Amino acid sequence: MKDSYALITGASSGIGLEIANSLAKRGFNLILTARNEIKLKELSKVISDKHKIKVDFICSDLSKVESPQIIYNFCTSNNYQIDCLVNNAGYGIPTAFHETSMEDEEDFIRVLGIAVIALSKVFLPNMISNGYGRIMIVSSVAAFAPPSTIQALYGPIKTFMNRFSDALNTNYNHKGITSTAVCPGFTVTNFHQSSGVQNEMDKVPGFMKFSAKRIAEEAVIATLNGKNLCVPTKTYRFLVFLLKILPSSALALIESNVAPGRYDKK
Ligand SMILES: NC(=O)c1ccc[n+]([C@@H]2O[C@H](COP(=O)([O-])OP(=O)(O)OC[C@H]3O[C@@H](n4cnc5c(N)ncnc54)[C@H](OP(=O)(O)O)[C@@H]3O)[C@@H](O)[C@H]2O)c1
Repeated sequence: MKDSYALITGASSGIGLEIANSLAKRGFNLILTARNEIKLKELSKVISDKHKIKVDFICSDLSKVESPQIIYNFCTSNNYQIDCLVNNAGYGIPTAFHETSMEDEEDFIRVLGIAVIALSKVFLPNMISNGYGRIMIVSSVAAFAPPSTIQALYGPIKTFMNRFSDALNTNYNHKGITSTAVCPGFTVTNFHQSSGVQNEMDKVPGFMKFSAKRIAEEAVIATLNGKNLCVPTKTYRFLVFLLKILPSSALALIESNVAPGRYDKK
């Protein structure tokens, strides 16, 4: 008999790492994946010792086309049954769209979009035959916000992921599989440093920043309960409500004051 596991992409830091801790606390065995082998090795040991669960890891760069299949083959050859797939890996490109190379944009779309689709595609058949599966897609409040003048493709790819998550629900809910699009607002992680927008993040008021632990906990509860959408924290649920009802001219004005990191330094 196969052991049941949760697979988490981008598990080496931030929201992904806290999702791993939250699932471990609930007794899930884990497969962690990211590019940083040293961190994954260390974290696997720490998490398995602390929660007395099985943890394995596989290093993988999701900008490479073959990575999702390699991850799937690793799980199959080790007899790991993935009942929960967490698509979390991501980053931002801080450079203006006209200054980036097409290769940079393609890598970005692959990590935040195509890899999510490819991983869902390879793991779904086993979930269908088991009659159970939980998929989480870590999207963003940016999916609902007006376009940013930096990170031009970030909002659009997150909107696409929300729609993809909806499509998974439409097609597979009746087979016991649910997909949860998790849309966090500003979360304190390595994201802003590694995406070159830490100065802009520093200007965001404190009441709009939340810890990765808090976001992960809400995300895991919603996913295990089979919710379609999870916007963690009341603050961001209210913001998303405003984003849906206010005209975009009013939103741009509000956002340029409270979230200057989303706008170019003109
Ligand atoms: N922080 C926020 O304010 C915020 C808000 C809304 C949504 N989000 C979303 O939350 C998700 C997690 O971000 P985070 O804030 O936790 O950032 P983070 O701390 O920088 O974590 C990003 C994770 O993605 C992995 N990753 C990056 N590029 C990768 C690649 N090419 N292949 C495989 N793994 C890769 C990183 O690991 P390695 O470097 O080891 O590969 C790391 O584990 C992202 O999808 C992001 O868009 C973040």
